[in-house]
Amino acid sequence: MSKQAPVIAPSILSANLTNLGADVDAVLAAGADWIHFDVMDNHYVPNLTFGPLLCEALRRHGISAPIDVHLMVEPVDSLINAFAEAGASLITFHPEASRHVHRSLQLIKSHGCQAGLALNPGTPLSLCEPLLDQCDLLLLMSVNPGFAAQAFIPQTIEKITLAREAIDAKQLPCRLSVDGGIKPDNITAVSQAGADTFVAGSAIFGQDDYQSVIDLMRERAQEGS
Ligand code: DX5
Ligand code: ZN
Repeated sequence: MSKQAPVIAPSILSANLTNLGADVDAVLAAGADWIHFDVMDNHYVPNLTFGPLLCEALRRHGISAPIDVHLMVEPVDSLINAFAEAGASLITFHPEASRHVHRSLQLIKSHGCQAGLALNPGTPLSLCEPLLDQCDLLLLMSVNPGFAAQAFIPQTIEKITLAREAIDAKQLPCRLSVDGGIKPDNITAVSQAGADTFVAGSAIFGQDDYQSVIDLMRERAQEGS
């Protein structure tokens, strides 16, 4: 399958954490498709963020949009269970953080969630290729994981192109997501290379008018389609 309709997924890492429910409501009302939920454990990455309680709290608050959980943790399996129970829609993990990657993907699916693999800038595509047909989403990191508001690493463009070729060659129904440093001024190139799912933290939550920036990003992503 080739590129799917563009999805804009704001990362709550850059949201107003003192008023998170309202900020997530606002970004969804402004047109966001998914909420990207970055989980960091101060072990796999040098930062510490949110656990399953916060995911559950967003569901209780009334958020019904897909919650795209990005696990930057090691190991992964116990948190897969916890986030599935907390209301995650998609759960993505880094394959080198699981001893049995296929088993972890199946564990996610056993909960009825969509499953994804994430690759760091220095991790080769070949690491996920044997299991690409088991993935609903492949997430390419375009910064080193751990922090918002870092600069997009330009070498990611070539990796996106290769990932798109791999997905298309097997006609897989796998979304291709790019995460890190995505902004209105680079989203067209990222889309042209083959991405259909765009995670953005600071570029969206850093603006006063969420709707304008989301509209602009969607329009520019479509220019690259
Ligand atoms: C980084 C996270 C990203 C990050 C994106 O480790 O996985 O989702 O929040 O933030 P920006 O868009 O500001 O680079
Ligand atoms: Zn992320």
